[in-house]
Amino acid sequence: MAELKQKIDQIKREFTTRLAETASTKELEDIRLAFLGKKGSITTLLSELKDLSIEDKKVVGPLLHSFKQEAEERIQQHKEKILVRQSEQATQRLQDFDVTAYVPNAKPGHLHPYTQFIEEIQNIFLSMGYEIWDGPEFETDFYNFGALNIPQDHPARDMYDTFWTNKPEYLLRTHTSPVQIRAMQNKKPPLAGIAPGRTYRHEAVDASHDFMFMQCEGLLIDKNVTAAHFFATAQTFLKKLFQKDSLDIRIRPGFFPFVEPGFEIDMRCVFCKTGCSVCKHSTWIEIFPGGLVHPNVLKAGGIDPTQYSGFAFGFGLTRLVMLKHGIDDIRLLHSGKIKFLEQF
Ligand code: DAH
Repeated sequence: MAELKQKIDQIKREFTTRLAETASTKELEDIRLAFLGKKGSITTLLSELKDLSIEDKKVVGPLLHSFKQEAEERIQQHKEKILVRQSEQATQRLQDFDVTAYVPNAKPGHLHPYTQFIEEIQNIFLSMGYEIWDGPEFETDFYNFGALNIPQDHPARDMYDTFWTNKPEYLLRTHTSPVQIRAMQNKKPPLAGIAPGRTYRHEAVDASHDFMFMQCEGLLIDKNVTAAHFFATAQTFLKKLFQKDSLDIRIRPGFFPFVEPGFEIDMRCVFCKTGCSVCKHSTWIEIFPGGLVHPNVLKAGGIDPTQYSGFAFGFGLTRLVMLKHGIDDIRLLHSGKIKFLEQF
């Protein structure tokens, strides 16, 4: 009995010493196996309990069980300590990272395909005299809907699966169109600008839908602006973007509450002549929705609709990047996958 107690004490000391010397989770696992594993010293002693007399069992049993529990707890605590230390060391290594250090044969990085594409779009519109505008992604009901001629309870709201927030009246913008209103309120016509940026919808995510994607809004207001200006602008932009001297476009009526009349502009599929999966075998790709700004929208922006008219458009920037580069899964764009990014 005394001998057994001595043995337990010895194992305890051994356990404490080995634990103190351990600095890695791998070593810690070795210790766990040595003491608590199937053939570990504590486990072995526990299995020998049955051979003891009742009196001895009463003394040694609780002793061993509490030691077992203590050992398990201390291993767990030690593991947490090691993990905290490792993460502190990793942070330290990052902080010590010298971004200016010369690294021989380092692969240079480059701009994300989104950024490259936005620059390309901006250059085309800058060359046509447009400004570049920006607006908040955390928007109000007024800018996202009300001012765009989509009143409360209007069924058009169903087109936008909106992320509402805890703050009453606030949402994540479902399109870049609110920037139109902000531009009209802040500037005097004539005005022309585009606003590329992120938009959010409560979508089930798959290869062609994401809860966050990019659009680019456009707005031009002046005296005597007609749909012909809108069509010419769309065609000029698409020709430049797809580097085509001539580009077939097709114009269909389209409904958006903020324009009247509204249009859908399709372009001939750039991938095929006779139909493919991208154009859903129609040879046309729906690409550029827009129209003449609705008088109610002009009014909401503080512009007199009897004096001025204008056109607006809002194309899917994400959709265009995917089309231009033949990207078949939207999720790749913000996956951070180096293999994907290296292709651009
Ligand atoms: N905001 C629309 C959408 O997200 C796109 C759009 C259509 C914008 C027509 C416009 C426009 O400015 O005139 O579905």
